[in-house]
Amino acid sequence: MLRAARVQRKRNKEVKMGFYSQAPRERVKFGSNFDLYQSRSANWRDTLFCAMGPDPLDPQELPEVCRDITMEYSKQIKQLGTTLFELLSKAHGLKPDHLIGLDRAKGHAILTNYYPACPEPELTMGTSKHYDPDFLTFLLQDDIGGLQVLHENQWVNVPPVPGALVVNSGDLLQLISNDRFKSVEHRALANHVGPRVSVACFFTPHLYPSTRMYGPVKDLFSEDNPPVYRETTV
Ligand code: OGA
Ligand code: NI
Repeated sequence: MLRAARVQRKRNKEVKMGFYSQAPRERVKFGSNFDLYQSRSANWRDTLFCAMGPDPLDPQELPEVCRDITMEYSKQIKQLGTTLFELLSKAHGLKPDHLIGLDRAKGHAILTNYYPACPEPELTMGTSKHYDPDFLTFLLQDDIGGLQVLHENQWVNVPPVPGALVVNSGDLLQLISNDRFKSVEHRALANHVGPRVSVACFFTPHLYPSTRMYGPVKDLFSEDNPPVYRETTV
């Protein structure tokens, strides 16, 4: 048994090693810290990052162990994303594809997060506090919990609900909606009962550097309600 476990561990490591990369344009990569060179502390998590669109990803680029399920999840989540983007536009009295054109729903990345059990979880973070750099994030989480959002200066737990996704608005939605939607600051605690697994789907039109400019949607500002933000790239 022990030998089998060792062999499996070695194999897992070899599979992961093939995907380690910090290159911004790599479409499938495995990493322990997305912000290793910017943040003051490391996060207690591993992440498999997969840029699924707007250009379709060749499934062969995905690790075999999660290839089919990732492709299927991507297909389903894209449909759900499109529906939600249409509803958000309608909620603003805009045409369904106006506020967030359907091209926005095509670009998405799937981040599969693995939070190993941590012997001293109070000394670190699973994911340190941040805002998501996208329009919307759909988060699927297992039953362990640890996700928190900042609400009126307090960290509030977002307990897992079986079968439910957490939908989070990101920086780009705040920008184009001229502050009608606020980007939500959040974090994930480290835990000592894990591993915890979560799958975050980021809806953003550009997953790597691009010169395309984004600014507040014209129908959402006026003379009495001027634009809050300048145009900027993603
Ligand atoms: C993220 C994120 C939270 C979680 O991947 O951006 O905020 O609960 N994840 O894993
Ligand atoms: Ni996040």
